[in-house]
This record gives sequence, structure tokens and C-alpha cells, in this order.
Amino acid sequence: MTALPMAGRGEELAAILGAWKQVGDQSQIVVLTGEAGAGKSRLVAEALAALRPRPTRVLAGQARSHAPSPYDWTASALSGHPVEDLPGPPDALAWLTQRPDARREFSPGMLLRVAVDVTRAVLGDGPGVLVVEDLHDLDPASLALVAELAATPLPALVIVTSRAPDALAGRVLARLGGTPRTVRRHLGPLSVEEVGDVLEAAFGTRVGAPAAHERTGGNAFWLTELVAAFRSAGPDALGDAPLPAHLASMVTDRLAGEAPAVVRLAHAAALLGGAAALAPGPRDEPADDPAGGTDAAVHRLVSLGLLVLGPDGEPGFRYPLMREAVADSVLPAERAALLARAGGPEPHLTGREREVLHCVAAGMTNQQAATSLGISIRTVTVHVSNLLRKTGSASRTEAALWAVRNGYTE
Ligand SMILES: Nc1ncnc2c1ncn2[C@@H]1O[C@H](COP(=O)(O)OP(=O)(O)OP(=O)(O)O)[C@@H](O)[C@H]1O
Ligand SMILES: [Mg+2]
Repeated sequence: MTALPMAGRGEELAAILGAWKQVGDQSQIVVLTGEAGAGKSRLVAEALAALRPRPTRVLAGQARSHAPSPYDWTASALSGHPVEDLPGPPDALAWLTQRPDARREFSPGMLLRVAVDVTRAVLGDGPGVLVVEDLHDLDPASLALVAELAATPLPALVIVTSRAPDALAGRVLARLGGTPRTVRRHLGPLSVEEVGDVLEAAFGTRVGAPAAHERTGGNAFWLTELVAAFRSAGPDALGDAPLPAHLASMVTDRLAGEAPAVVRLAHAAALLGGAAALAPGPRDEPADDPAGGTDAAVHRLVSLGLLVLGPDGEPGFRYPLMREAVADSVLPAERAALLARAGGPEPHLTGREREVLHCVAAGMTNQQAATSLGISIRTVTVHVSNLLRKTGSASRTEAALWAVRNGYTE
């Protein structure tokens, strides 16, 4: 797939280019925060390509998120540099570059000094760029080095990206953010307008931007994945068509190996909504749910990135497409049990909603339903979203099943 242009982020890009102009003997620091897939790495790449004059050196390193080891940043930033050319005791350099035969014979303070000297030597007279990707995942030794580099006079632009950090990384981030040489930007979701820019580039039309924005919450990663998946199906599919299996499993794989209580809560939240999932069911004995059990499961789902807590503390899926993926993964028996547990009166559907539901159950797209009922596609979209809410469905497929089960298709 040809790369889509970067939407929005003009102000942030200008701020980075402005910081680059300020680099002298002292470094300038740019801290970019944002959740997974917000577009931090993309912005860094676009900024690096746009720097003028060109940096003499770019040293870019990142965390190894699965098995962090000391000096992951140095090891990845220096990979490709012949160790023989670097200053410092060979054994210390072997340790800093994580050579498998490295023996640790140096104090942490000594290693830190060598790491700073090496970085300075590679940068030379500069001006150069140090990129620290994914600070939230960095090992403590690399975090200490980043803090030290930021406090050391260096002819460099230091660009740091991070998701929400834990306590230790958070302290380093706060220190970086506290200097007058620092520019901080938080990358929020793309706006409907910016989603429209992406669709325009991909499909030549902005139609479908509100639906795509809604389904992805404006997250750049999920948006570009949806666009890639539906490139040939066209923009209507973005808000409508079932999530392709490879995207659904990116969501549901996060539940693999989780405790049954966590998985069950995710399923209930997907089918019934966050608040209903937390309410004890009529057949639940209090002993089934020791105090804090549900809380612990909610927090686990939050840390897996599936749920977020709303302002009132009520959990909800981070993006609607996550709810869809989890709902679609629930097997029929469990689904029936959950829906029975939710009980409740059958929702009242208006005449028009019944007609739209008929069309959905017949497998029509919104456009086909609009044509068949002689109403605008916008109106159909509104009815469909009301139907999803009223029937507790996460997707049109589910609403269609609901229609069949509840006798709305006769
Ligand atoms: N502003 C944008 N416009 C269009 N596409 C974007 C934009 N920002 C990011 N993307 C695309 O979205 C995807 C995810 O972006 P990126 O990898 O930069 O996210 P990230 O914030 O670095 O995530 P992570 O925390 O997982 O590292 C990439 O394919 C990227 O090209
Ligand atoms: Mg990234």
C-alpha cells in the first residue's frame, strides 16, 4: 500500500522544526506523548525528513518492550557503529552495546559516564539528533542515561516519545519536561476533518469520515489499518463492513492467557455495555465475586488497553472497534447466557427503525437501505446507530442476528 500523507500535526511539526533551529552548544528537547498508535513515531519520521540544515548524525534507539535489558537504548542506537571507533574501555562498550560475550565489570556510574562520552563522540560537532522512542518501555539504565544526556551540554536535538509512563519513566519525563529548552506536545486523536484528509488521499472522497472517526476514535493506527483493509471495498465499508479477521484478532489476542474472570468481564462489557457488565447478575452469588474481583478485572482490561475509565469511573471500550471485535469473539452459548442474564424488557423500536432493521437483516448497506426506503443515507446512519444501542449490538451483524432471534424478519 502506498503511504498515506500525514494528516494534521502541522503545529507539532513546526514546533519540532523551531526547536531544531535553536540547537547550539546546548541541546533542545522535544517530548511527544500520546497513546498507542496516536502517531508519535510517524511525526518523528516526518520531522527528521524535514530538518534543514540536515543533521550531521541521527542516533535513534528504542526500548525492547518484551524483554528490556540494561542499555537497550544505547545498544539499538549504536547498532551499525563499529565499536572499535568508539571511545572507552572495550569491555564497557561491549556491555553498552549488549554484546553476548559482555561481562559486567563496571559500576553503574562508570557505565553511565562511558555512555555519555560515547554519545558525545558519535555526535561530534553536530548539530545532530538523538531519538529516544518509547521511553515508557525503557530499562532503568537507559532512563538514567536519557536524563543525563538531557542535562549535558550537547549540540543536539533530543526527541523523546512516550505512551503513559509508569512511575520511574514518569519521573524522567517530568525532568525532561521541566527545562526551558523543552517543547512538549501531546498527540490526541485525529479530528473528523483530519480523518477526512486521510480518506480523501486513500479514496478520493471524504464521505465516510464521520463513521470511520467514530469506529476508530480518531486513532491513527486503527484508521490506517481500516483504510488498508478496505482499500478495494471503498469508503462505505469503513464504518460498516465487519472488522477483518486480522484486525479483530489484534484486539482479541490481548485476552489470550488472561484469567477467566477477566475474559468473562470483557465479553459482558462488549455485549451488555460497561455498566451492565459490572452489575451483579440475578444468579450471581455474592461469594462468586469476592470484593475487588471485578475491580481487579476492570483494571487488568484497562492495562491491556481494551477499556478506559470514563470521567465517572465507568468503564467503556477504548474504541468502538475493540468492542466489536470482542463481541464477535463470544461463542453462542456464552452469548446467550450473558444476554439472558441481562434480561430486561425488549426495546421499543419505532416503525422506521423496524424498517431499517429489516434492511440490515437483509444484508443491505446503508446506501442500499436509503435507496430502498427512499430516505437519506444520513438518516439511515442515525437509525442504525440507534438500533445498535437499543438492541445492545456491537455490529450490524449482531443487530441482524438480534432481528432474527426476536422475530423481526418475518
Ligand atoms: N497524522 C497521521 N496521518 C496519517 N497517518 C498517520 C498519522 N499519524 C500516524 N499515522 C499512521 O498510523 C500508524 C501508527 O502511527 P505510529 O506508529 O506513528 O504511532 P505511535 O504513536 O508511534 O504508536 P506506538 O505507541 O505504538 O509506538 C502508522 O501507520 C502511521 O503511518
Ligand atoms: Mg511508535
